[in-house]
Amino acid sequence: MSQTAFRTHRCGSLTAAEVGETVRLGGWIHRRRDLGGIVFLDLRDRDGLVQLSCDPKWTPSKAMTLAADLGAETVVLVEGVVTQRVEPARDTTMTSREIEVRVNSLKVVGPAQTPPIPVARRDGEEMASEELRLQHRILDLRRPELQANIVMRHGLLQQARRTLTELGFLEIETPILTKPTPEGARDYLVPSRVHPGEFYALPQSPQIYKQLLMVAGFDRYFQIARCFRDEDLRADRQPEFTQIDLEASFVSQDDILAVVERVLHDLWAEAGHNVSIPFRRLQHAEAMERYGIDKPDLRYGFEIDDVTASRGVDAAPFVVDALGAGGRLRMIRVPGGAAFSRKEIDTLADAARAAGAGGLLWARRSDGGWEGQGVKALGSGTLEGVGGVTGDLVLAVAGPDRVTNPALHAVRTLLTRRPEITPTTAHAFCWVVDFPLFEQEPQTGTWVFTHHPFTSPHGDDIPFVQSDPGRCRALHYDAVYNGNELGSGSIRITDPTLQATVFRALGLEDAEQRRRFGFLLDALGSGAPPHGGFALGFDRIAMLLAGAPSLRDVIAFPKTAAARALLEGAPTKVAAADLAALGLATTIEDS
Ligand code: AMO
Repeated sequence: MSQTAFRTHRCGSLTAAEVGETVRLGGWIHRRRDLGGIVFLDLRDRDGLVQLSCDPKWTPSKAMTLAADLGAETVVLVEGVVTQRVEPARDTTMTSREIEVRVNSLKVVGPAQTPPIPVARRDGEEMASEELRLQHRILDLRRPELQANIVMRHGLLQQARRTLTELGFLEIETPILTKPTPEGARDYLVPSRVHPGEFYALPQSPQIYKQLLMVAGFDRYFQIARCFRDEDLRADRQPEFTQIDLEASFVSQDDILAVVERVLHDLWAEAGHNVSIPFRRLQHAEAMERYGIDKPDLRYGFEIDDVTASRGVDAAPFVVDALGAGGRLRMIRVPGGAAFSRKEIDTLADAARAAGAGGLLWARRSDGGWEGQGVKALGSGTLEGVGGVTGDLVLAVAGPDRVTNPALHAVRTLLTRRPEITPTTAHAFCWVVDFPLFEQEPQTGTWVFTHHPFTSPHGDDIPFVQSDPGRCRALHYDAVYNGNELGSGSIRITDPTLQATVFRALGLEDAEQRRRFGFLLDALGSGAPPHGGFALGFDRIAMLLAGAPSLRDVIAFPKTAAARALLEGAPTKVAAADLAALGLATTIEDS
């Protein structure tokens, strides 16, 4: 309901149906145009813009004087008559383009200082820097683009709630002041005043609580959950972010995938897109083999081929060396790529090198056969073995998979961004399943969990948890969309003995296990149903559906890449007395 004591309508909701009506509006002055005695004002609110026309023919002189002087972003109340415009507004950002309001009363209720960043930009005017916009976030949030994103975010959240409620999930809140939940990042710690020297951790996710809710018998849980992770930030990460988190009992992997497919289908429908479910499934190993990454962008081809077997005996020594130590020769064939310039090929090679490869071997095929720096390096016969037709370009990397995967993924990503390449579909969803349970840290060689330590090993691989961790597949699955990880989940360990074995494989001795996770082990021993779940990165979904370049465009008050809140200024130093009350002191000197 938009009618209030102050207004009859919202600005952006007026249509030709209201022509002839006297309306009262409240909003912000977006733009003012003075046309020698007549003043046009664009008035803005959450719903959009409407033109106000102030003309001595229908506007009293006091209001005319006020109108002539109104600064941008002033809040006014107006009353006037809705009138058909002679010509609809050319400006398509005007929501109410067909009509204008002929003002007969105008009052300033919220004077505004000259805004330090513009809300309404003139044609071709650049946006202020992001830093400045984050400092003046309130003004930035008034931009119609950001308003639309935040409104869309609300619609998506409500849709998620509707869908999950329909599917029998209960919305249950879990604590924010809690004990560390391992999700691979550092914890944000909160000191306890009542228990000096002790700390709460903010949850990296509600993972353990949602499992406890299953053991407690709630059967299906969801939460729009705020999570906190102290990690190095990237464009698609924030220190605090929102998940659509869910867990269900007596379910298999297929059951969870079906629930998440339905949620994603409904979210995309809410944003106006019809996507078909179920999604395609790719095994983790297959995704790595064909695309070099566990979140492949399936809108495009350019798959990776293993051509190790067809390499020539006279390949260059660096190729022979790379293959000697268990490496492979893998390549991407680019139909029509023979026409790429040397500069374009060099850009691809730079991407491969930046991703860790020694270099990129290339060859192109003309009517006269193969030519290019890769022909000799790969050795005679290799390219004949690969096949190919006139016009092809092949791009190859030799080495261990940990080198060829990221390098060829980087090359493939650049190829897909070429202007002549069109995606085969707008929405390419897939599941990546059967992730490895553990991965080895490259520097130390120690085994760490790929996701979190509550994920169940694949039934066939349980015997190898301690003897051969690298061989264990997990009942873990990721939802991937156009090359983005939307979320992940797993079937959980419910046997406390197996849970303890997994902790042990990760180097957690029994005493440490009890200290950190005793409450979970006890819960699992108190009658735990089989259960599993999932968490969707909600900000990421909102960003993708809004077509926004950054998570900051869909979060009302985001942090910078350096985890600072520039508007209110956080984090801040605190007084020594406040620290002392918490039993703390800092060793950082004041600068
Ligand atoms: P995971 O850690 O994979 O799984 O997180 C799930 C999804 O949350 C999003 N995400 C983030 N979004 C913004 N900023 C961040 N810093 C950030 N970190 C993660 C991603 C990611 O796919 N408890 C498990 C889920 C489960 O097993 O049920 C978990 O949190 O889109």
